[in-house]
Amino acid sequence: TTGADGGESAARPFSFRLLATDGTARRGEITTPHGVVRTPAFMPVGTQGTVKAMFMDDVRATGADVVLGNTYHLMLRPGAERVAALGGLHRFANWPHTILTDSGGFQVMSLAQLRKLDETGVTFQSHIDGRRYELTPERSIEIQGLLGSDIQMQLDECVRLPAPPAEVERGMRLSLRWADRSRRAFEAMGGPGKGQGLYGIVQGGDVPALRAESARALAAMPFEGYSVGGLAVGEPQAVMLAMIEVVEPLLPVDKPRYLMGVGTPDDILESVARGIDQFDCVMPTRAGRHGLAYTRFGKLNFRNARHADDPRPIDPESSCPAARDYSRAYLHHLVRTGEALGAMLLTWVNVDYYQRLMQGARDAIEAGRYADYVAETKDGWRRGEG
Ligand code: GUN
Repeated sequence: TTGADGGESAARPFSFRLLATDGTARRGEITTPHGVVRTPAFMPVGTQGTVKAMFMDDVRATGADVVLGNTYHLMLRPGAERVAALGGLHRFANWPHTILTDSGGFQVMSLAQLRKLDETGVTFQSHIDGRRYELTPERSIEIQGLLGSDIQMQLDECVRLPAPPAEVERGMRLSLRWADRSRRAFEAMGGPGKGQGLYGIVQGGDVPALRAESARALAAMPFEGYSVGGLAVGEPQAVMLAMIEVVEPLLPVDKPRYLMGVGTPDDILESVARGIDQFDCVMPTRAGRHGLAYTRFGKLNFRNARHADDPRPIDPESSCPAARDYSRAYLHHLVRTGEALGAMLLTWVNVDYYQRLMQGARDAIEAGRYADYVAETKDGWRRGEG
């Protein structure tokens, strides 16, 4: 049976079901102890246990089945043991649905000071108060378990591109050894018994042979899903798509594939076409706080004076109140005055648009018309509002 928060005991153990395919594109369903995730899925980023500037009820109402949390941030503040004592991250954040957590390595490398990485793990100084911490594959799994995450990530090393192939290879091999240690820790700490899933992370930079080796080695290990990491780190889109094409045929068809940290609506459509099932990115939420709106007509910048006298809403046909019930002139005013409501409304518009994009992709794959959907959607961005 399930506990009060719908979790803990493995009434609904992690599983993945493929429902339809259209070329390489896949329509599926991930089941976790906290619900069903319709794939392809976009997962709004809730780094600190909050999708910035949104109420969780509104995030849910846009159609999100899963949000992302970050080991790195939550271990520093408020602390994983504290969250566990308060009943876990689902209860703490008032999100009773599926939660996926990143493992922390990626954030340590971009945010922490005085980092030292070796075989054991990574030690670093908190970017908040300078305290020293250690993150090992085992401690990362322990933290993700304390948070109660339904979908957990192995600790990995993402080598920033451009980098010499030897450096990319070293990071990829270290990540494989950490994959093995993460899996052992996950099983020793009872993750499978709680119905949770652990994903291995493919690395290998922009080197096809290293990507293939990483994917093959991980596919031979018992993970519930597979992430593709180390992409969207500054390389051209064509390189990213080429790397997806290298690893896709090597990953088990009956497990979900998650492209980490991606991306623009265009990146997502192209990656779904190549067999990716899950995405996360700060783009819709960060852009919303900076006055940018993603819409079916393309991107709108509300700092721009052309909106100052425009009484129309962003999209009168939208089911999202933020896109339907507020004039562009008002949104422009809120952004120019730096009002909190401007960030709230535009974040809502963007999270809603990303979910509409994914719902359209899921429907199109089921109908066997994904290529047409991509063409029509891109045409809408290009045409603007005519
Ligand atoms: N988020 C975006 N890219 C990555 C990556 O390569 N590894 C991890 N752990 N998280 C990511």
